[in-house]
Amino acid sequence: MNITTIILAAGKGTRMRSAFPKIMHKIANRPLLQHVYDMSKQLDNNQIKIVYGHGAELVRERLKHLDASWIEQKQQLGTGHAVQQVTDQIADTDTVLILYGDVPLLKLITVKALLANVDDKSLGLLTVNLSDPKGYGRIIRDSHGRVQRIVEEKDASNNEKLIKEVNTGIMAVKGDKLKLWLAQIKNHNAQGEYYLTDIIEMAVGEKIKVITNHPHSEDEVMGVNNRMQLSHLERVYQQEQAANLMEQGVTLRDPSRFDLRGSLESLGQDIDIDINVILEGKNSIGSNVTIGANTRIKNSVIGDHVEIFDNCVIEDAVIGAGSRIGPFARLRPETVLGVNVHIGNFVEIKKSDVAEKSKINHLSYIGDTTVGSNVNIGAGTITCNYDGVNKFRTVIEDGAFIGSDTQLVAPVRVGKNATIGAGSTITKDSPENQLTLSRVKQVSISGWQRPEKKES
Ligand code: UD1
Ligand code: CA
Repeated sequence: MNITTIILAAGKGTRMRSAFPKIMHKIANRPLLQHVYDMSKQLDNNQIKIVYGHGAELVRERLKHLDASWIEQKQQLGTGHAVQQVTDQIADTDTVLILYGDVPLLKLITVKALLANVDDKSLGLLTVNLSDPKGYGRIIRDSHGRVQRIVEEKDASNNEKLIKEVNTGIMAVKGDKLKLWLAQIKNHNAQGEYYLTDIIEMAVGEKIKVITNHPHSEDEVMGVNNRMQLSHLERVYQQEQAANLMEQGVTLRDPSRFDLRGSLESLGQDIDIDINVILEGKNSIGSNVTIGANTRIKNSVIGDHVEIFDNCVIEDAVIGAGSRIGPFARLRPETVLGVNVHIGNFVEIKKSDVAEKSKINHLSYIGDTTVGSNVNIGAGTITCNYDGVNKFRTVIEDGAFIGSDTQLVAPVRVGKNATIGAGSTITKDSPENQLTLSRVKQVSISGWQRPEKKES
């Protein structure tokens, strides 16, 4: 079976009150349209066509990586008109699947069930029973329960409005039939629009059976029209992901306060995640890792037995097994930590390698630096890596000890087992095994007295 998926995504989304087209709003950092695309991409022998309109330039630009054809609908004259834009790209023998770009949580399993109902004598329609069906197209059935047609809210009689079974808009139908029916759609209705839903009555007229399926939950077919619905579906999506992780053996102290905005490439055993943790992009997490509250981790690799304490921000970093990070640490891109490294509070590291068992425990900035193993970097150490124009590297060799409040003015090298005296400004290479310090000699002035306030 060859499939053509048409994703309708031309609508503006006025109720979002946004400068951006609705489908560009995000759930878990992915545009709504991308969710729909990613789901349909999992179907075999499938060609995806996206009908776009509002914010055309922006949508094309931001989503140009999608493997789909883009068809512009310059004026939004209805769902039928939207599908008509694709007519000349539909092969007769294709099964055409219609999806909405603003219905992000539709599941593959639901779509597959729908597609299974399509042949030359039948089409598939996804419907759902809603306690409050207001605003939706209603499914009209005959006395035998057979679908006859769909009537839009604005065209419905009072009796028809009582019907709780509504059209989700998602359907699947053979290409030749669809093209035939599309050509016959008129806009003689309350909204003066070309309704795709009119093809149902045409199908029934030709003795094509309308087979209905239901989604597993209402949220699966929920569209996003405003920011409330967007936030609702974000939570639904996050709760699903949380449940999935817990099934895989991850402890989430509170699944309603956890966000996965991306994917976990690999996942160890007995990971323990405290509240308000955000995992972004592609992360890998080893076994027996604990992640403290209010921590954000993006595109990083975390080794086994790593402890990340509260309030850390970690991006594009590699953390070796047994390392301890934070609380309040920031690991910026290209930080690579070896095994058993300790990074403490208020420490920022950028584009640096820190080898095994080294410690940077308090209030430091380490940038563009190679730190050897067993190095101890004292509180308040700063690598001065930037002269305002260029960046330079600092090298700190194995076993070095950097006294507190030291500035290392790059390019500079601290030799193996060298010691730097506290409070030094190091501008030249410091030889191995020696103590280097740059510090004004301490003096004490005897007989000195504090000034006193003069009495007037
Ligand atoms: C449509 C259905 C209705 C169904 C409801 C489900 C029709 C006539 N009605 O209602 O039966 O209950 O969806 O939500 O089909 N779009 C375009 N171009 C257009 C018009 C719409 O691309 O010219 C896109 C929108 O961006 C959206 C989707 O099609 O993704 C549905 O449009 P929307 O206006 O939300 O649907 P309704 O007409 O309210
Ligand atoms: Ca100082």
